[in-house]
This record gives sequence, structure tokens and C-alpha cells, in this order.
Amino acid sequence: MDHASKTNALNLDNFWMPFTANRQFKATPRLLAQADGMYYTDVDGNKVLDGTAGLWCCNAGHGRKKIAQAVERQLTTMDFAPTFQMGHPIAFDFATKLAEHAPGGAAAKLDRVFFTGSGSESVDTALKIAIAYQRSIGQGTRTRFIGREKGYHGVGFGGISVGGLVNNRRVFPQIPADHMRHTLDIERNAFSKGLPAHGIELADDLERLVGLHGAETIAAVIVEPMSGSAGVILPPKGYLEKLRATATKHGILLIFDEVITGFGRLGMPFGTDYFGVVPDLVTTAKGITNGTIPMGAVFASRTIYDGLMAGPENAIELFHGYTYSGHPVACAAGLATMEIYEEEGLLTRAAGLAGEWEEALHSLKGLPHVIDIRNLGLVGAVELASREGAVGARAYDVFVDCFQKGLLVRVTGDTIALSPPLIIEKEQIGTIVSMLGDALKRAA
Ligand SMILES: Cc1ncc(COP(=O)(O)O)c(C=O)c1O
Repeated sequence: MDHASKTNALNLDNFWMPFTANRQFKATPRLLAQADGMYYTDVDGNKVLDGTAGLWCCNAGHGRKKIAQAVERQLTTMDFAPTFQMGHPIAFDFATKLAEHAPGGAAAKLDRVFFTGSGSESVDTALKIAIAYQRSIGQGTRTRFIGREKGYHGVGFGGISVGGLVNNRRVFPQIPADHMRHTLDIERNAFSKGLPAHGIELADDLERLVGLHGAETIAAVIVEPMSGSAGVILPPKGYLEKLRATATKHGILLIFDEVITGFGRLGMPFGTDYFGVVPDLVTTAKGITNGTIPMGAVFASRTIYDGLMAGPENAIELFHGYTYSGHPVACAAGLATMEIYEEEGLLTRAAGLAGEWEEALHSLKGLPHVIDIRNLGLVGAVELASREGAVGARAYDVFVDCFQKGLLVRVTGDTIALSPPLIIEKEQIGTIVSMLGDALKRAA
């Protein structure tokens, strides 16, 4: 069957696609059928080099047999069991394994793990834990959150409230939250390699918002240590340290949303390790199961966990949880994933490739429309000048062009983002960059 007939034979009407221009997509669909290693194969049998680890999640590449076997084993041993007032060993085993790699290492004591089903659930869980903890220590007036412009924290009502992307917010009501300014400053920091030099003063926004609202109303501040979804926005040097200090000074909890930066993306197990700044809560998902089975986890400090383990022993300490918190099949996938990460050194492999990646990406400087290039670990972004009156159109065209030539990239506005699987070989870095470069040369 050729592409047209295969696509035509498919009924595209019923699946309401997420974060997609449904009518545009269904008129000219892009359909993936298989995945192995660094490559997808589309429905026509064309290979597509995965420049985005799926959606920032397949850090160990695709088609990992070890994960498939673990999932099959678990499904046939015990497909599901509840974790409300019941337990099963694999959920405890997986939490123990995650604790071995917990953000910040043993000293940070961020090793109490609450399981969720996604990044959005991890975020809303962390926000609720923050409020509950504050209340447990007599700080019940702290119910407000501070997020940041351009932050992405998923699509729950908590996540969109602390998030800073207007399209995700404008239609929906929100919980009390205010926002610091974002740290993207192309004028001062264009073509920085790694962390930008300018912008540490933006962390003073937290102090300003404390002045505006009163510290006693603020439960937590949440940021992505490196913003991924809004177009790869890096923290200026010293910025996260300053946030930590201000939060501590005012009794505000610091939450790092590591749904993207977790599990090796920056060349360290977590952004917490990479930046050497220890938050109170860390949200994760995506790479936790290599993207195979939906799952997320919140790492909480022992102080927070112990603080909430109060009251009578027969009382439920936190009225929160999901049917799928600690799902046995997801835990099996997660354990197998962590074994692969350990065996192949993937939680730190990006560190050895980051220099090569940076050089390759920055070789695109000077190509048509390129106004900035940003990189950190195995993350990259190429920012294009927008077409007059059509923000995002140019990058979208580049994305479609790349896909047709066999490269998957991701676009947000006019930013092209790259985050390949951490198994990438050096030659494939060259291939990604040269394919993207060719597409940029063709771009109108
Ligand atoms: C930083 C961050 N937080 C939360 C989320 C939401 O995760 P999910 O789509 O699994 O709900 C994402 C997804 O990209 C993310 O990047």
C-alpha cells in the first residue's frame, strides 16, 4: 500500500489530538509506525531520525527489549493492584531504586517518592504536598504559588496556574499564583554557549513578589531548572542559587519541575545535581519509564515527608493519590529503565557529548533567519526570526520539511528544539545538525 492509500484507509475522525491543529493535521497527517534505537519509521517505511527522544522522554532510545520483557512479565504476573491501604513489592522496590539516584544525591535527602501517572499529575501533587506541609507546620495561610512566565508545568489546573504560557491559561480559571519574569533575553545573551551570563537579577522577582503578597501567603515557588517546552530557556548563571536563598529566607518551598531535566538530560542524573542547587520537591515523569508506560514521581525531602507523618497512626496523612500511583506495570517498566540507565551510564552520558553537541549546534549560526542558538547538556534550540504577522509559521515549515527529509524536531513558536535520545552517537549529532541546517537554508 502506498502512503496515500494507507493514510486514506485510516479513520482520523475520532481521535481528538492533544496540542494539535486537528484539522490541519488530519488534512496532511504525519504518521509514525515503528521505533527502534535512534529511529522511527513512518507508515511509508521511511526512517526518521529522532531528534526529540519522542517528546523528551525516550532517553534510552526506542524498542528496548529489557523494558518490553519486564512489562510482559509483570502483566502476566500481576496486571494491577491497588495502592490505597494495600501494597505490592514492586512499587516499594521501584521507590527504593529511585531513591538510590535521588536528585542531589544522598546528602540532599530528597528520597521520599510519591508516584503519579504523568508530569501534570506530578506537578499538581507537588503543589498539594507543599500546601499540606506548610499547614502541618502551622503555616496554613500559605496557599499561593509563585511560578514564572513561559514556565510549562503540564495541563492540570495547578500546572496551568503556575505555568506561564498564555495559550494554556487564557481560557481556564486558575488557583492563586503569581509569576516571576522569564529569563529569555536574546538581546543580551544571543548565541551564549551553555548558561547565559546576564540575568541573575531576574531572581530578585521572588523578593518583589514576597513584598507584594507577603511571605505568609506563599507556599512554594516552582520553576523548571531549565525550561524545555517553552523553547529551551536557560537559567542565567547564579540565578537558581539566588532563588534558593530567597525561598529559604522566607519559608517558601522550592519545587524543581524536572519532568524534562530528570534522568540524564543535562549530563547529570537531575538538574538538581547539574546546578548543585537543592530544592524541597522535585517533579518527574517522561524518562522515568523511558516513555514506555505513563508514570511520574515526586521526590520529596525527608523534612516534608516527616512533617506530614503526624497525627494518629491510623489517620491518612495526605488525602491525595491516583488509581495508578505505583502501577505495577509502570514500576516494572521503570525498574528496567533504571537498569538500562545504570548499565549504559546514560544518566551521565550526555556530559561526554555536550561539547560536541554545542559545537555542532552553534555551527548553524549565520544561516538564514537564525537569531539565537541555545544549548545545555543534550538539549538544543535554534531560534528563528518570526515572519511578519505569523509567529511560529517559519519554524513549523522547517519542522515539516525536516520530517519529510527524515528528521524529527520539535517546534514551539519560532524555536526549534532538539533533545535526542541519550544513546546518540557522535555521527548522528552531525546528521541532525546537517539535516536541520539544510532545512534552514531552504526555509522561506
Ligand atoms: C517541565 C514539565 N512539567 C510538566 C509536564 C507535563 O507532563 P505530562 O505531559 O506528562 O503531563 C511537562 C511536559 O512536557 C514538562 O515539560
